[in-house]
Amino acid sequence: MNVKRETSSVKPHVPVLPDEVMRALTPKPGGTYIDGTLGAGGHAEAILKACAPDGRLLGLDGDPEAIQIARDTLRPFGERAVLVRSNFLQMKTVAVEHDFVPADGVLLDLGLSSMQLANLERGFSFSSSSLDMRMDNRTELTALDIVNDWDEQDIADLIFEYGEERASRKIARWVVANRPIQNAQELADVIERAVGRHGKIHPATRTFQALRIVVNNELENLENTLPQLAEVVGQGGRVAIITFHSLEDRMVKNFFKTNEHWKNLTKHPLKPTYQQTRENPRARSAKLRVAERK
Ligand SMILES: C[S@@+](CC[C@H](N)C(=O)[O-])C[C@H]1O[C@@H](n2cnc3c(N)ncnc32)[C@H](O)[C@@H]1O
Repeated sequence: MNVKRETSSVKPHVPVLPDEVMRALTPKPGGTYIDGTLGAGGHAEAILKACAPDGRLLGLDGDPEAIQIARDTLRPFGERAVLVRSNFLQMKTVAVEHDFVPADGVLLDLGLSSMQLANLERGFSFSSSSLDMRMDNRTELTALDIVNDWDEQDIADLIFEYGEERASRKIARWVVANRPIQNAQELADVIERAVGRHGKIHPATRTFQALRIVVNNELENLENTLPQLAEVVGQGGRVAIITFHSLEDRMVKNFFKTNEHWKNLTKHPLKPTYQQTRENPRARSAKLRVAERK
């Protein structure tokens, strides 16, 4: 599988658990596949190769930059690759429109791409010069709005609920006391001063996760998309979902366990090997769950 090389400030994105995803979806010639989180198109490219000569792939991403990068990567596949800027929440509508129902497989590789993380103007990393954090800039709320405008209690609740951060109240107090906060660097610095630095992980990690989840409605999007999948995937088709934190993983796990339309194929989630994590640190917390449409 190709490693994407990007221009200017963006870093290459290395697909996570590539072989495991391919084994889960087992793309076949003539099959129809949907990648709801196209990113740089790494997984999509592998799927298109595997379902040659006539399999098709519908790729969705809310981020126009991702669509642009993936368009370049997937150009050799011509009309077999249909790329649409869309939230995966609209998967069923878009898939029907482009004749992808019933699909043989759907992939969701949640979270951020390396390009998004590396682009300092987007506000996702601790060294960013902004604090936007929107994956899709058609939405309104930014992380800057939250840290500068929300009540202290609401900020504390958000950090606790979506970051599972025990120091949420203290962090919220420091954030409010240090307003206005101009960018991600300042926020990371305030949090470090509030709680100190212990261990390897930056003390702002959980707060940044919480902000990103809320800005992008990540849990609601997933929760409202999971039930649609049974209407998109045909009998015997597969869904593969890669999550990067426990809130998402729990949701996917419970859904596949309890929903009548799916046979859960991963009692325990698939995780990257030590070697994969060394080669691709972003894979560190990835968990892949797979289910088959009954
Ligand atoms: C981890 S990256 C995917 C990387 C991709 N699998 C690859 O191999 O390059 C996740 C992508 O999903 C997109 N995304 C996240 N939530 C989304 C949503 N609700 N709807 C559409 N795209 C979403 C992000 O913009 C990002 O580009």
